[in-house]
Amino acid sequence: MLPSNKIEPMAPIPISTDRIKKAVVDAHEKQKNKRGGKNASYIPALAKVDPQLFGVCVATVDGQTFSAGDARCQFALESISKVFTAALAMEQVGPREFHRKVGADPTGAAFNSVLALELHNDKPMSPLVNAGAMTATSLVSATDAEDRWRQILQIQSDFAGHAISVSEQITASERATNFHNRAIAWLLHCGGYMYCDPMEACDVYTRQCSTLVTAVDLAIMGATLASGGINPVTDKRVIAHANVSHVLAEMAMEGLYTSSGDWAYTVGLPAKSGVGGGLVAVSPGKLAIAAYSPPLDKAGNSVRAQAAITQIAHALELGLFNTQRRD
Ligand code: DON
Repeated sequence: MLPSNKIEPMAPIPISTDRIKKAVVDAHEKQKNKRGGKNASYIPALAKVDPQLFGVCVATVDGQTFSAGDARCQFALESISKVFTAALAMEQVGPREFHRKVGADPTGAAFNSVLALELHNDKPMSPLVNAGAMTATSLVSATDAEDRWRQILQIQSDFAGHAISVSEQITASERATNFHNRAIAWLLHCGGYMYCDPMEACDVYTRQCSTLVTAVDLAIMGATLASGGINPVTDKRVIAHANVSHVLAEMAMEGLYTSSGDWAYTVGLPAKSGVGGGLVAVSPGKLAIAAYSPPLDKAGNSVRAQAAITQIAHALELGLFNTQRRD
């Protein structure tokens, strides 16, 4: 019998490693020459990144990784950080309170929309738009700004399985230009959806977006959700099993902003993008697929990362809405 604190090993996933390896290599090969999109330009440090960079990685719930291209190149986590801060705040306030104070519906508007707040009586609706992300940051129970930041960096590190670092250059670039987010933080304060000093929440949110990950890190972060909240490499429980389905539901509803419905229609996996060019999709109980390439479409999602993840999800038949063929 296992001691009570020991975590049962995850069952091997029902997809062969050869099939995963081939899907990753094929997707990288086919999508590396895909054109279209532009680096985010409203954050000066992101505009300068090489647009040709392209990395892909799959991490399975039994801790294996399969990668191709620039999968070990670091990039800014940006909006993908919203997933991990939401998970942390949900752990602390509970899923019901989190749902009431933040929400779980798509806004149908851009990730930094002020109009969306006006339309919904100041409720941010989702932790994955800038407004809801700052509300989630403010909900983290902290003694001061440094304590809030430390906890958020820690949860990102726990999801990745190693200490995550921050880019001081990207933080400075975002701090010098984040006036729109500051306005949103004050609007949330006026509407009663800000639970610490609004400028503290905005600044910690800005820092959490400026941390550096690779596609391999991002795949392991996603695989931690796929495996029910346990990091498959370190075996550490990172969030409660009961909260994982809520986090994945948030990703399914708003993970790719105004393209979230199109993504559900074509791919059928909860996912989250960032303007740094990262994208991660989660196949619950099986694996996560991460991809990175800086050029973005109009909704703010990486063009090559979407194409690569779509190709892998189709090759491995991962869509959550897939049914078994009988004819
Ligand atoms: O707050 C911002 O605008 C950026 N730090 C993050 C936005 C973002 O990544 C949107 N995602 N696609």
